[in-house]
Amino acid sequence: MATRHFLSLMDLSADELRGITERAIELKALRAQGITTEPFRDKVLGMIFEKSSTRTRVSFEAGTAQMGGSALFLSPRDTQLGRGEPIEDSARVISRMVDMVMIRTFGHNVLERFAAYSRVPVINALSDSFHPCQLLADIQTYVEHRGSPAGKVVAWVGDGNNMCHSYINAARLCDFELRIACPEGYEPDENIVAAAGDSVTILRKPEDAVRGADWVATDVWASMGQETEQLVRIEAFKGFLVDHELMGHANTDAVFMHCLPAHRGEEVSAELLEDESIAVVWDQAENRLHAQKALMEFLQEQGS
Ligand code: CP
Ligand code: NVA
Repeated sequence: MATRHFLSLMDLSADELRGITERAIELKALRAQGITTEPFRDKVLGMIFEKSSTRTRVSFEAGTAQMGGSALFLSPRDTQLGRGEPIEDSARVISRMVDMVMIRTFGHNVLERFAAYSRVPVINALSDSFHPCQLLADIQTYVEHRGSPAGKVVAWVGDGNNMCHSYINAARLCDFELRIACPEGYEPDENIVAAAGDSVTILRKPEDAVRGADWVATDVWASMGQETEQLVRIEAFKGFLVDHELMGHANTDAVFMHCLPAHRGEEVSAELLEDESIAVVWDQAENRLHAQKALMEFLQEQGS
């Protein structure tokens, strides 16, 4: 059987995504009761980070330990990857020694090339194109707070970036309507949008996207790797701040999500981020742990 990878949400069927979400909720409850399961005993997760991280590193490392295994942090600074050893060679070597690999990188093709030569499952821990692990956590968070996202209206306010692309894929798999508000020139990839058909609309005014929405999400305006564009982007995204006033256009029980880290006063107001009656960002961050444990369990079962 071919090794299953998780490079984007579209590597899962809608049923598999539902199953992983349910298992994540179950694993969270078990952990709260102090019950441990160790399906990863004696297993090793290789973690390749070419970009910074707090949530992703801590959740994968803690999650692996909680499952009875161990995690290896590998950065280009101190591996041969940083000195130009080809991805294909690194994949063949590393995947003979560990049981699963997660990679945070720039170009999505790095993940695809690694996966093509890997003997073990490869997980996308963020690329310039997608951030599917974050969506596992976001979906879990919505289900926990409001139930199934099917048939709901989700508003994405901000950059058409890796997170936005993963929201588009989530709209396809979870059957919700996604309204994206972004400035001209900052749209998501047109092929990813086209593949989603009628479930995605691109709008220019944040109020138009948020009107009647059940779930509003945003992210930083300049992603990792775009630091030099920061000032230009602050100018381009004027009017795209998500605050209580904008949330006033949404449904009364709408939730606000942000994958974090957040830039208070840029894409989100400090007051909204701190308002736990609307913002569910800390649950979202915690759910990275539970969702990824469920994902790793799933990928391991697929290979056995
Ligand atoms: N949301 C997220 O992936 O956070 P980190 O960059 O801290 O991992
Ligand atoms: N779009 C952001 C997400 C960070 C978790 C980035 O790529 O930097």
